[in-house]
This record gives sequence, structure tokens and C-alpha cells, in this order.
Amino acid sequence: MTIITTVEDLRVLAQKRVPRMFYDYADAGSWTESTYRANVDDFQTIKFRQRVAVNLENRTLKSTMVGQEVAMPVALAPTGLTGMQHADGEILAAKAAEKFGVPFTLSTMSICSIEDIAANTSKPFWFQLYVMKDREFINRLIDRAKAARCSALVLTLDLQVLGQRHKDLRNGLSAPPKLTIANMIDMATKPRWVLGMLGTRRRSFGNIVGHASSVSDMSSLSAWTSQQFDLSLSWKDVEWIKQRWGGKLIIKGIMDAEDARLAVESGADALIVSNHGGRQLDGAQSSIGALPAIVDAVGQQIEIHMDGGVRSGQDVIKALALGAKGVYIGRPFLYGLGAMGEQGVSKCLDIIRNELDLTMAFCGLRDVTKVDKNILLPGSFK
Ligand SMILES: Cc1cc2nc3c(=O)[nH]c(=O)nc-3n(C[C@H](O)[C@H](O)[C@H](O)COP(=O)(O)O)c2cc1C
Repeated sequence: MTIITTVEDLRVLAQKRVPRMFYDYADAGSWTESTYRANVDDFQTIKFRQRVAVNLENRTLKSTMVGQEVAMPVALAPTGLTGMQHADGEILAAKAAEKFGVPFTLSTMSICSIEDIAANTSKPFWFQLYVMKDREFINRLIDRAKAARCSALVLTLDLQVLGQRHKDLRNGLSAPPKLTIANMIDMATKPRWVLGMLGTRRRSFGNIVGHASSVSDMSSLSAWTSQQFDLSLSWKDVEWIKQRWGGKLIIKGIMDAEDARLAVESGADALIVSNHGGRQLDGAQSSIGALPAIVDAVGQQIEIHMDGGVRSGQDVIKALALGAKGVYIGRPFLYGLGAMGEQGVSKCLDIIRNELDLTMAFCGLRDVTKVDKNILLPGSFK
């Protein structure tokens, strides 16, 4: 039996259990993957100040994100095709997040639908929206998210055009996968995954099928994306969406202080410093590298979250120390899901909680909401 003690262990197991096409989809970055690597690497240069002989009793990781209580300030990031990492993947991840007490964010490009998540959970989840040209489709999606009692809308602004991931093109990524000889040989070595998929009817884009029936594989998705994702998107649209939604609004994909100011002006409740996990603009700065300047520019006016490259509780606390109120994990929970379904997502959250709690203690703190730059070694961060 494999003993799992790190997010990396979950990644290794997921690689064994998930068909290559979908494992590669989760694990890859765009073009040379330099931003994807920088997201992870740049956390390593930041160093802690170790403190000793401080009372460490009664520690707490409880915090809030957009005013909502969280068991720790870590949310599950929106990820497309999550139901292809494991059958009914979005439902399983949402259940694990609900049990743990952290937000789950459902992607527009999910396999399970908004209604599927609502039917299988009892607490509100968050919904991530991509802006498409078909405004009636957007209106309906917003209405469906409201009807499902979603408690925040995460509006992603960094995907008007699609960054190229070479592996996805080579693998012929599609949902459901095409039964080519290469795919069948690969799937023969992943029997758990195949059995799971045979046991579910959810194998395509749950929020889109029936609304955009032409989308079935990666090339038709690309075609639909270039046709539907709105090249003319502007901050005016953000204001319109905020008004239409009427609830908590989180803007995702901010990497620049000037855009952060515009996000504040748009009336958003929070922004996420994010480069889409290194999947869009290759050559962009890492998210943790971009965070301090954005905190300096607008940290007094808006709640700041971040994602990209978080692989441990140590990374979470570094982001908090640099001014993030909350952090999202994408690939870490996908690895957990691919490795062990719902149990794997719970395992991933447990690992991160344990690392976060102990690291906070080593830095001499008992309350995660009190984390600030003082826990970091001067000179090891910007
Ligand atoms: C497989 C995959 C699919 C993603 N799909 C979406 C998506 O549909 N919508 C979105 O806003 N972000 C999407 N993202 C970006 C994530 O929300 C998040 O920004 C990123 O995963 C954070 O980096 P990390 O994976 O290093 O934690 C996706 C990321 C991955 C890895």
C-alpha cells in the first residue's frame, strides 16, 4: 500500500491512475511552461523566521474569505474537466470541501453541472464564470448559479484567448475521450478510472451541453472558445455582471497593479492574483512574485486572494504573509481526486492543514489571521 504524506505523493498516484490525456491536461502549462514552473519555484526562495519558546496552545486556522467563514483560508480553484480526472469528480471534490469547511468553486467548463453540485451538497458553493458572446447564455448561467444558492461568483478575465498546451494537442484531448487505439491501450492500464466512467452518465460539459451542442472535443472546444469567448470583453461588462449577479463578486486573473485598480473600481469584493496556473501567458511573472505589488497598490481597498504553485501549507502561509487573505489550490486537489477520489481530495486538504498549522507554530503564531510579513526573513521576499 502506498503511504501518502505529501501532495507530491498524490501526484505520483494520480499519474498511475488517470489516463494520460487527462493527467497531462491537469499537469501541463502553456508553451515552454516557464510560468508554470516559476509559480512553484518562486515560493522556495521565501524563507521563514523560526521562533521558539512561544505559547503554542489553542491554535486556530479559522478565517474568512469574502466574509464567509472557512476552516482554513484555502479554497478549491475552478478547474475545467474535473469530472475526467475521476468519475463525478466535481461532485466528489465539492463534498470533500464541504466536509472540510472550505469553498469549492465550480468551473463553467465542468463535467458535472451546477445543478449536480447543488443536489449533492448542502452548503453553498462558488461558481466561476467565463464571459461569452452569447449574453443570454451568460444570463442563464448566472440565474442557474443563483438558483443553486451559490454564495460567490468568481469571474475569470484571463481567458479571452487560449494559451496553447502542446500536450493537449498531441494527446487529442476530448471529453469523453475518443476511442483510438492509443487511448484504449492507455485505458487498459487504468481499470479503476474506466469502471468509474462506465458507472456515470456525466462525461461531457455539464453546464454547456444543451446550450452549445457543437462542443464535444478539444478542437471543437477551441473553435467554440474562439467563437464564444468574448474578445471585446471590457470592465463595462464586469459592472454589468456584478449588477446582474447581485452577490459577492471575485475577479480572477489579475497580475498587474493597474488592472487591480480597475478591479477595485468595478466594485468587486475580492480579486485573485492568478496567471491561470501558468496555462495562459507563458513568460508572465509567478503569482507569488506578483502578489506584493498588488497588495501595495490596492490591499487597503479590496480583499486579495492568490493562486498558482501552492503545493503545501508552507506555501499557503507565505502567501498569507505577503498579504493574501485566502489562497486557492488547483492541481493539488486534482491530483488527490485522480489518485483516490473524494478521499484523495480530503487527504490533500488534511496534508495542507497539517503543514499550515505546524509551520504557523514554528513561526511562533497561534492564529492564522495574525500572519503577516513578520514571519518572513527580510531580504528573502519583495
Ligand atoms: C486542469 C486545470 C483546469 C483549469 N480550468 C480553469 C477554469 O475552467 N476556469 C478558471 O478560472 N481557471 C481554471 N484553471 C486555473 C485554476 O483555477 C487556478 O488558477 C490554477 O490551477 C492555480 O494553479 P495551481 O494549479 O498551481 O494551484 C484551471 C487549472 C487547471 C490545472
